[in-house]
Amino acid sequence: MTRQPKLELHHHLEGAAPPAFIRGLAKEKHLDISGIFDAAGNYQYKDFADFLRVYEAATQTLKTPEDYHRLTLAVLEESAKSGVIYCETFLSPDFCGGRDVGAWQDYVAAIRDAAQMAEAQMGITLRGIVTAIRHFGPDKARQTAICAAETAGDFIVGFGLAGDERAGQPADFAWGFDCAHEAGLHLTAHAGEWGGPESVRAVLRDLRVERIGHGVRAIEDLALVDELAESGTVLEVCPGSNIALGLYPNLRAHPIAQLYARGVKLTVSTDDPPFFHTTMTREYENLHEAFDWDEGVFDGFAQTALDAAFCDVDTKAELR
Ligand code: ADE
Ligand code: ZN
Repeated sequence: MTRQPKLELHHHLEGAAPPAFIRGLAKEKHLDISGIFDAAGNYQYKDFADFLRVYEAATQTLKTPEDYHRLTLAVLEESAKSGVIYCETFLSPDFCGGRDVGAWQDYVAAIRDAAQMAEAQMGITLRGIVTAIRHFGPDKARQTAICAAETAGDFIVGFGLAGDERAGQPADFAWGFDCAHEAGLHLTAHAGEWGGPESVRAVLRDLRVERIGHGVRAIEDLALVDELAESGTVLEVCPGSNIALGLYPNLRAHPIAQLYARGVKLTVSTDDPPFFHTTMTREYENLHEAFDWDEGVFDGFAQTALDAAFCDVDTKAELR
């Protein structure tokens, strides 16, 4: 199953930056970010808050559209090695151009150009989900939504909300989600990672999302789990991320198998692969080892991902 074609719906472009790539950029730009790496050269952080700090420090090296062009190629090369044929990645105007629409358009053009090169060379298709950062607050999220709306199309296909789920309420971000929806973008939000079932209910009710990033803590309310199963709401589950960040001690304690058994539609993703020492291949291998799932289960995850992907029907047809 590790050779199966894989589709990944929950992936952050900056979070997928290989540490060596970020170190190389830092050297070129004479920036000292040595404190974010351990002795082996991997990203190091203590907990989720520290993870966000290290993540944002790493993004400080990414200054220009050209940097994002190089980043996109480096990241897709890694994904392609795991057999990923389709990836939706979160992109944040907060890190590219400071939410200025004109600058943002230049970053999107660069990322898209690199994606087209990767598609031709490596057979991997990339689409972007413009993502507001929750702990940066609703005002910045509104500007982010305007950037998203201005670039909505066949490459930018969605709008999302990442960052610290404990900051503010989903309803604070409703304007941005309405704006993105009107621009034709699909919607997803991180919830049920650092917040409980009420947080999942709130993004469904107040932001009208089609998919949920993580969503695993829905397991703490079985009535909600049944509602998710009945409505067919897709969870973008990232087991390795949840374990690396200390949400669960190991895969046996992770709710993915229970959610699956109760009929919730699931996909599997890496979130921020080098931060969590993971790849799509490793996620599949670890799940196989923990639950003895066979190829059919993984084919089911890939099919769910294809059905729930935000790209257009022609792209889906090519992926089938
Ligand atoms: N941004 C990157 N990774 C994230 C995660 N796991 N949760 C929230 N925001 C993130
Ligand atoms: Zn995420």
